[in-house]
Amino acid sequence: MSRRRQIYEGKAKILYEGPEPGTIIQYFKDDATAFNAEKKGTINGKGVINNKISEHIFTRLELIGIPSHFIRRLNMREQLVKQVEIVPIEVIVRNVAAGSLSKRLGIEEGTPLPHTLLEYCYKDDALGDPLVAEEHIACFGWATQEEMQDISAMAIRINDFMAGMFAGIGIKLIDFKLEFGRLFDGDFSRIILADEISPDGCRLWDIETNEKLDKDRFRRDLGGEAEAYQEVARRLGLFPEG
Ligand code: C5P
Repeated sequence: MSRRRQIYEGKAKILYEGPEPGTIIQYFKDDATAFNAEKKGTINGKGVINNKISEHIFTRLELIGIPSHFIRRLNMREQLVKQVEIVPIEVIVRNVAAGSLSKRLGIEEGTPLPHTLLEYCYKDDALGDPLVAEEHIACFGWATQEEMQDISAMAIRINDFMAGMFAGIGIKLIDFKLEFGRLFDGDFSRIILADEISPDGCRLWDIETNEKLDKDRFRRDLGGEAEAYQEVARRLGLFPEG
């Protein structure tokens, strides 16, 4: 294979220049990080599983009218995506209190929220992705108000779809992170879903036992992280491959 130009290396993915202008190859690594990369490790086979799970979810979201950067999966660890300008905001969607929300506000993990909560974090590793208000986003021009309307509407629809999809396979969708990008067409741009959706960026609990089937197994040294990711993929009908 010819040498490809690497555009960016992140904590869990590498981006390469794609075969056509406006495309990118997204490579899924087994590397895992937590607490803003203070904790580092690997989860065996994670990249392969996340590639499949993200393909599965993005493909289904497209069918309900959520546009995304996903074009197609190329192989075990790579997918072809559209090049976008990433909006520097991480959108956190929460259905049940956990993680930083529980810590920040003293709410016991596992407490259902009266309604879905959207939070925004400014994407900046050096600052540790701080929580920001919509007012900060507008004030510093990270996204326009129109873009934020599209982003929040899509986040709610994605949550409705994913909560149902996971409930159908005995998994509670506690919370998850989304990233969006601007797809340019001349001077005009529109917001589409970007990045990935996988157990790296979701909290997924077994409905019956509350067993954690996500990256908290790694963050909290619970062990069995590879098996948990495999279990999510298995319940989604993705492994073993047919
Ligand atoms: O840590 P916190 O409780 O804020 O995380 C909320 C959700 O967002 C979790 O599902 C976590 O996996 C995800 N998240 C992420 N990347 C971050 C921060 C949070 O995927 N940088």
